[in-house]
Amino acid sequence: MQDDRIAPSILAADFARLGEEVDAVLAAGADMVHFDVMDNHYVPNLTIGPMICQALRNHGVTAEIDVHLMVKPVDRLIPDFAAAGADWITFHPEATEHVDRSLQLVRDQGCRAGLVFNPATPLDYLKYVMDKVDMILLMSVNPGFGGQSFIPATLDKLREARALIDASGRDIRLEVDGGVKTENIRAVAEAGADTFVAGSAIFGQSDYRAVVDAMRQEIAQ
Ligand code: DX5
Ligand code: ZN
Repeated sequence: MQDDRIAPSILAADFARLGEEVDAVLAAGADMVHFDVMDNHYVPNLTIGPMICQALRNHGVTAEIDVHLMVKPVDRLIPDFAAAGADWITFHPEATEHVDRSLQLVRDQGCRAGLVFNPATPLDYLKYVMDKVDMILLMSVNPGFGGQSFIPATLDKLREARALIDASGRDIRLEVDGGVKTENIRAVAEAGADTFVAGSAIFGQSDYRAVVDAMRQEIAQ
């Protein structure tokens, strides 16, 4: 797989030292920053919003920021995240009344757009909007918390999503999120993913570079 990307989820970082944590993980070789937004409504947890995204930009972070919206509704936050420096904005299709409109809104703001699929959500939502999707994000855990175990059925779903992307002929990233670690990342890559979110597997270790290197080595096998 070409151009694989490792996207540490800052949900598992030390929020009291967030700028340093992001600097450290990027210096360790990570490719982009995965930014989990939870609203205590769509998912039963509450995290961070556009102000923190802007704060990372003000801190000097130039890497791509991959904003994963676990909020309902989604539209109101899209312009705010675009203005705060997001590069990618993904949302869950069942969290918006108008999937096509929300995707267009992301693109109109100059960001790249993606749909996120929970473990039990079928990929059918993609059928009529493939031309507006720049990323497909498959959840390999139920959203809301870091540190959960990878759900193995995701591997078949990744193969299904990869086939849809290949058939589309478009440049669409296939991201996987939840329970990804050095021990399973090779299977995830073989199933077709090219963008790997990892939270606890990276921030749970003291040597971020060792984990990022080990993951990359596994993917390259
Ligand atoms: C879960 C979040 C994930 C989470 C991943 O709802 O979307 O991004 O932080 O954490 P790990 O890698 O620990 O499963
Ligand atoms: Zn996420």
